[in-house]
Amino acid sequence: MFSIVVAMEKNNGIGKNGTLPWPKLKGDMKFYRELTCSHSTSEIEQRYGLGDNSKKSFTSYPEFLDHLHSHRPISLSNNSALPNAVIMGRKTWDSLPEKFRPLPNRLNIILTKQQFTSKVEKVYFTNSLEDALVYAKNAECPNTFVIGGCQIYIEALRQQQCKKIYITKIDSVFDCDVYFPAIKNEYTTNISGYTVSEQLLKYQFTKLEI
Ligand SMILES: NC(=O)c1ccc[n+]([C@@H]2O[C@H](COP(=O)([O-])OP(=O)(O)OC[C@H]3O[C@@H](n4cnc5c(N)ncnc54)[C@H](OP(=O)(O)O)[C@@H]3O)[C@@H](O)[C@H]2O)c1
Repeated sequence: MFSIVVAMEKNNGIGKNGTLPWPKLKGDMKFYRELTCSHSTSEIEQRYGLGDNSKKSFTSYPEFLDHLHSHRPISLSNNSALPNAVIMGRKTWDSLPEKFRPLPNRLNIILTKQQFTSKVEKVYFTNSLEDALVYAKNAECPNTFVIGGCQIYIEALRQQQCKKIYITKIDSVFDCDVYFPAIKNEYTTNISGYTVSEQLLKYQFTKLEI
């Protein structure tokens, strides 16, 4: 079983020129890091209003941060714990600034058709999504997330094991050259979480679930 995590603009755009089309959104980055590092997705869902259809809105990132800090501290996986797995395409891996990769405290699995080997701990290159999922399972990762890009989302959405899609919906239009693929109707639970305004943009945390 695994989940997809994505941020998209109004027309389902997710990327432009090998990077994100929008400015850095601290609230979304925080959600992304906490979700993919936590062993308890339900705890993170509660924290971001995804446990129920919660309609809270925050007019700035500091206001949102105050709200998050009013919750009890969450426990994120660290080096001593079994990490979650994040599976990504080679282009998404390339798009991560060198100082941020591998994504810390997570097993980074990168899909490529080329022959890459890694000498770095917690980084694994492979040439199929099936193998990536088996690798994460054998490594006893508590949670596995497919984090993009488009080519990998297309494959992930075909898998029966994909049970949840976390979408941060940005309420604006950006010029994009990569789009999230169409989602089948079988995702029946549709939860809208908190809305945050930041960098003159408004975005909402949402979750689709089978
Ligand atoms: N908004 C978001 O949440 C989000 C998230 C992630 C990424 N992005 C954006 O999305 C863009 C990148 O997406 P993308 O679709 O162009 O690239 P991608 O999916 O990240 O990577 C594509 C690469 O993955 C490898 N690959 C694809 N299918 C494979 C398979 N079946 N088996 C083995 N390897 C496979 C190939 O690597 P090789 O060429 O090495 O063979 C391919 O070139 C960037 O702009 C990035 O910033 C946005």
